[in-house]
Amino acid sequence: MDQPWWQKAVLYQVYVRSFADSNGDGVGDLRGVIDKLDYFSWLGVDGLWLSPITVSPDRDWGYDVADYRDVQPVFGTMADLDELVAKARDRGMRVVLDLVPNHTSDRHPWFQDARTSRDTRHRHWYVWADPRPDGSPPNNWRASFDKRSAWEPTPETGQMYLHSFLREQVDLDWWNEEVREAIDGVMRFWLDRGIAGFRLDVAHAIVKDRELRDIPDDYDKDVLVDVDETFAVLRRWRGVVDAYEEERILLGETWVMDLERLAGFYGTGKDQLHLAFNFPYTFAPLEAEALRDVVARTHDAFPRDAWPVWMLSNHDIPRFSTRACGGDERKIRCALLALLTLRGTAVLYQGDEIGLEQVDVPPDRIRDIGDRDGCRTPMPWSRDGGWTNPWLPLGTTARNVEDQRDDPESILSFARDVIARRRGSEDLQSGPYERLDAPAGVWAYRRGESTIVALNLSDEPVEFEGRRLEPWEGSVLDS
Ligand code: NOJ
Repeated sequence: MDQPWWQKAVLYQVYVRSFADSNGDGVGDLRGVIDKLDYFSWLGVDGLWLSPITVSPDRDWGYDVADYRDVQPVFGTMADLDELVAKARDRGMRVVLDLVPNHTSDRHPWFQDARTSRDTRHRHWYVWADPRPDGSPPNNWRASFDKRSAWEPTPETGQMYLHSFLREQVDLDWWNEEVREAIDGVMRFWLDRGIAGFRLDVAHAIVKDRELRDIPDDYDKDVLVDVDETFAVLRRWRGVVDAYEEERILLGETWVMDLERLAGFYGTGKDQLHLAFNFPYTFAPLEAEALRDVVARTHDAFPRDAWPVWMLSNHDIPRFSTRACGGDERKIRCALLALLTLRGTAVLYQGDEIGLEQVDVPPDRIRDIGDRDGCRTPMPWSRDGGWTNPWLPLGTTARNVEDQRDDPESILSFARDVIARRRGSEDLQSGPYERLDAPAGVWAYRRGESTIVALNLSDEPVEFEGRRLEPWEGSVLDS
């Protein structure tokens, strides 16, 4: 059976601001990404996911969109993006964009219009409510960053608007058909340019409770989500991308810690998201029992046609090399080996492949409202970094691309070897996952007919299948 490209894929998340700077202004840009296409080919990745590159006042670094249909000037031009997509394609690589449908910037022309009066053209593209008689917000919903009320008063009309994140990120009203049509249009605009799909921001919480009811005490989100209607929107988007001949994907940012609920985002496995990020796996400790358990529960919970996606780090959470591995190279290799050999799509965050660690950003250099700078620092290309006056400080460059590229024993060479192995192996790309019995501390599984992966996640050497595994050694064995 012909397996779709995105199932076999290793995707690479490019945090554009910090990836590669082509013009020396201290901010990464699209030409910088183009300049590194050789690197991606050499590493063997199948596609890139670019963090938001559309126009934004950068209160939340691109996740506050002021124009969905143009490129942020500091990143370059539309021509640069078209060139990147075309050159990537020449090398057999796809480009996926980040799409932020939950909210726009307060500077977006839709909101600039909406706030002026109660009956203006775009008023009901956003969620408005009257304050209570005592002036307090209409319900108990909280905004993600500061956990204060998610409602912001406006002097123009006396009503309050909803913002699940910053007050400069205004939630769109997804009950409004005009909003749905507008975002369909945005998707088609990019798909027509050859984009391979979207990473969907806040995919788990697009549609809010229509009645704006209070969240109950034990609810695990800050705003009340209408899950069924969110699924209906996902089906609608699936229809939009499925209309294109070459298969395009929807990769959802699904912050859902319950795997049964996560499974719901796939629908039947063919009618909602293609891929839904698995945060329970990301946050599981690097221990045999814990990892085995999340993977087993993922497979049990998912519909037969649903395909998992695994990742270790992204631009919102501390880097896995520090968080789960304490910087230990052996552990970093184990985590990468599992990521790249599990049944599912694998997503690397820039720097994961060299074991880049979380950086301690000094207080006077902090730029992010949500304290996430430490995982967004510039990519160290060489011992001197390869940057002039970067917007965030470089951490230590002891782990850098140039040195590791030349060293067959490096983390980077290891990651590249595993990716190459995956590419050449039908077992690893599509074979079923079967957990194998193994000594305590060892996580072992068979993929497909004859590929066995064994990870000794313990401090003691062990014997497995007649082979000695050193502490924190992982290996691919042929059976
Ligand atoms: C998730 C994004 O990854 C994060 O960076 C952003 O702050 C929020 N969504 C809000 O858009």
